[in-house]
Amino acid sequence: MNLVSILDIGDALLPLLKKTQELKDDAQRGVFEDRLKNKSVSMIFNKPSTRTRVSFEVAMVQLGGHAIYLDKSSMQLERGETIKDTALTLSKYVDAILVRSGSHANVVELAKYSRVPVINCLTELEHPCQVLADLYTVRECKGAFNSVKLAYVGDGNNVCHSLLLGSAMAGMSIAVASPKGYEPSTEFLMKAKTIAATTGSDISAVLEPEEAVEGADIIYTDVWVSMGQETEKKKRLRDLRSYQVNAELVKKAGNPLIMHCLPAKRGQEITDEVLESENSIVFKQAENRLHLQKALLC
Ligand code: CP
Ligand code: NVA
Repeated sequence: MNLVSILDIGDALLPLLKKTQELKDDAQRGVFEDRLKNKSVSMIFNKPSTRTRVSFEVAMVQLGGHAIYLDKSSMQLERGETIKDTALTLSKYVDAILVRSGSHANVVELAKYSRVPVINCLTELEHPCQVLADLYTVRECKGAFNSVKLAYVGDGNNVCHSLLLGSAMAGMSIAVASPKGYEPSTEFLMKAKTIAATTGSDISAVLEPEEAVEGADIIYTDVWVSMGQETEKKKRLRDLRSYQVNAELVKKAGNPLIMHCLPAKRGQEITDEVLESENSIVFKQAENRLHLQKALLC
């Protein structure tokens, strides 16, 4: 099984969250079993990472296996070896290929030729590992999905896309507020609405942050300039400036939890005050990446 889109997890979502709980409980009791003894994964990253890289590497160590970090620039891929040949070769050595790439199409191609599972560690379209860990965190904090409304405020980006699909799959309601030109793609929105029709959640995309956060139990945001968009920085900061998650916006929701996948640009999409407020669960999200990804690897 591959995890290229969060949709790939399908019916395994709830069992995955259950396994995450077991492994987190074990870790908190200091119990680490060699469930992946003699197993290896390779991690092809062509974009920076703190959380994803370190949590996956530590996950493999805690499970008794081994992770090989491959900066794309040090691979033969950089000299023109094809994705197909890379996939076929790595499949002879490792038990899974983890990949972070600016091109979703390249990850789809890698998965097509790989003989071992491929896990998407972020592309320009999706960030499934992040959102699976976020779903675990939501349930950990709120105890359920179907009574929860999450408001995502800001750029309708990769994290937003996976959140739309993941929320729909879990049966959690989500309202996205983004300015014109920064909306999540219609394809993701439509897919989320189709799934939500069967799980009973509400999916909406609006223009005004105040409208999205009304009655929200959680406010989630992400950077305004994602990796690879640096040349658009000036325009993005200007276009998104009224989408900041600050104390005034938070107050309009009541007493919501605050989520952010990190890294954050404090003072841009979120203020220091909100990021560090009592209701902020951003570092719990970061911690749960480790537990969720251990369950995923198992
Ligand atoms: N949230 C997340 O994926 O962080 P990194 O870019 O540090 O991996
Ligand atoms: N949207 C951000 C997420 C980083 C984890 C990016 O793609 O840079």
